[in-house]
Amino acid sequence: MLDWEHIFATRSSRMRASEIRELLKLLDQPDIISFAGGIPDPALFPDVAFKEAYSDIFSGAQVNAALQYSVSEGYKPLREWIARDVAKIGIDCTPDNVFITSGSQQALDYLGKLFLSPNDTALVTWPTYLGALSAFNAYEPNYDQLSLNGNRTPDAYRDTAAKTGGSVKFAYLSADFSNPTGETIDLAARERLLALADELDIAILEDAAYQHLRYDGEAIPPILALDIARRGGIENTRTIYSGSFSKTLAPGLRVGFVVAAMPVIRKLVLMKQAADLHSSTINQIAIEHVASRGFDAQVAKIKSVYSKRRDAMLAALDKYMPKNATWTRPEGGMFVWVTLPEGMDGAELLAKSIATEKVAFVPGRAFYADGSNANTLRMSFSCADEAMIDEGIKRLGRLISNAIRAAA
Ligand SMILES: Cc1ncc(COP(=O)(O)O)c(C=O)c1O
Repeated sequence: MLDWEHIFATRSSRMRASEIRELLKLLDQPDIISFAGGIPDPALFPDVAFKEAYSDIFSGAQVNAALQYSVSEGYKPLREWIARDVAKIGIDCTPDNVFITSGSQQALDYLGKLFLSPNDTALVTWPTYLGALSAFNAYEPNYDQLSLNGNRTPDAYRDTAAKTGGSVKFAYLSADFSNPTGETIDLAARERLLALADELDIAILEDAAYQHLRYDGEAIPPILALDIARRGGIENTRTIYSGSFSKTLAPGLRVGFVVAAMPVIRKLVLMKQAADLHSSTINQIAIEHVASRGFDAQVAKIKSVYSKRRDAMLAALDKYMPKNATWTRPEGGMFVWVTLPEGMDGAELLAKSIATEKVAFVPGRAFYADGSNANTLRMSFSCADEAMIDEGIKRLGRLISNAIRAAA
């Protein structure tokens, strides 16, 4: 076999398969109760609406355009629909401020490529979305912990970045129902982040993948909406908002988007021309077809199912978890984040849990840029029904209680 390592670029050394992903591949066995995948329940996909959409496309005059190359910015009627949708949450923009990506994951890759030179610093929450770390890693950045309670000065961030030979370029976060914790950033913290970003003169990357999935509580304006209100218009803002149809309609079509000021959009268009020319034409048309006819009804349907599963998971955790475990109480999204006593290891627990209790979850360490906090677990409630959730948490509670007793 060839020794590829010295031929590969240095950036490839940070592209590694995680042990956890390897372990989670075993989960296809039907007798496992899985809280591991952060994916939508396929039973909730609007398959009939998509069938109608593709059928309309193939039986109408649009078919040739749908099968043809198209513009890098994305399908105009879809961009218009998105501009109208985000206007409802205070993001006042034109369709030109909307750029279509192949899933919002592609937006993270492009934004990493656009902002990060090797050794620059990306500020991320501890923990953060693992896929964002994977996307940014290819651009060889350093990470620093984004503190949202205002206890770090701008100089503290600047000094840390300078020590590692670069400068702070952006802060990345999910403001609503984050992956992995399910938590929401409150209004005061959003305002503080905007002030910090002004001081540091950096971009804010607001990942809104779960934004539509609020089950209770008051909606808080997106950071981009607050930025627009402060600056008097989107062209003066520093926040780049990424959204997705993966959690609301279907992830397999790979349609996501970015909303931002024109200088950012223009660069993203150039990057897309070089990377994949454009996202799938026909899938963008199908998404627009389905969204414009029934987006709100689809979102209402999935919210009613997921909110019951969220309630079931929280009730089961209350019932079965030992006293010294704690967890988040998310108002939306797909995840609950469990913290176990110090010294426990989520990865070890997963191996035991799969072997003896047949319950899966994701150990939390992978979501920390510094690999800390092994005593955490990400539990997704999106794909299990209420009875399975109760049974799975009962088994897990037993396993954790026994592990705590054995360690004492
Ligand atoms: C926080 C967050 N951002 C982005 C993505 C990427 O999703 P997609 O590329 O399907 O839009 C995910 C997927 O799980 C996610 O959890």
